[in-house]
Amino acid sequence: MERIYKLRKQAFLEGRPILREKSFELLLNIIKEKQPKSILEIGVNGGLSGIAMLLTSPKAHLSGIEIDEDCVKIAKNNYIDFNVENRAKIFLGDASEIIPILTGPYDFIFLDGPKGHYYEYAPHLLSVLSKGGILFADNVLFRGYVDGKVKTPRRYNTTKHSMERFLNLITTDKNLKTTVLDLEDGVSITEKLI
Ligand SMILES: C[S@@+](CC[C@H](N)C(=O)[O-])C[C@H]1O[C@@H](n2cnc3c(N)ncnc32)[C@H](O)[C@@H]1O
Repeated sequence: MERIYKLRKQAFLEGRPILREKSFELLLNIIKEKQPKSILEIGVNGGLSGIAMLLTSPKAHLSGIEIDEDCVKIAKNNYIDFNVENRAKIFLGDASEIIPILTGPYDFIFLDGPKGHYYEYAPHLLSVLSKGGILFADNVLFRGYVDGKVKTPRRYNTTKHSMERFLNLITTDKNLKTTVLDLEDGVSITEKLI
């Protein structure tokens, strides 16, 4: 895991979009506790969080979705370097097209793709999430725009409204138990109760 932290630091310095520090620790704590067997990650980038989840849950298999071909190449190489390539696969393409064809079930879903699409993805993701499974979403407070801490620039209004609809969906459905944390860019943790 030491190497993962080094690579995360390097990725951060290179300006690659990676999960922030405290959110990363929270993600791994939940993975450690739940020991999911099947994990789905939407938005893989270089694969570092995926690898960390696989190392933390040694019996898990990971499916990732990533639209950027270069990221997919980097992630695949990283999977090989960390000897998890037999437990990790990536779908190259747009999550909007891939999510609807997934059948699951997944014990844990890490939603970290395009921020304006969480609401669109949610129904299908929740349908392929196992009972007792966790949907962990990053960036749900989206730069402070969603909770009004920061005034939303006009160009982000659509993304903000979509994120609000996502939060409304996961916090009002009685079949779900959701906690929204004001941690870094905002994290939501949803358990599927039935
Ligand atoms: C924040 S990064 C993911 C970081 C990764 N989960 C981690 O923690 O290391 C978001 C990723 O989503 C990818 N992405 C953006 N739009 C996408 C789409 N429509 N479908 C699939 N992946 C997408 C980006 O290329 C980027 O690599």
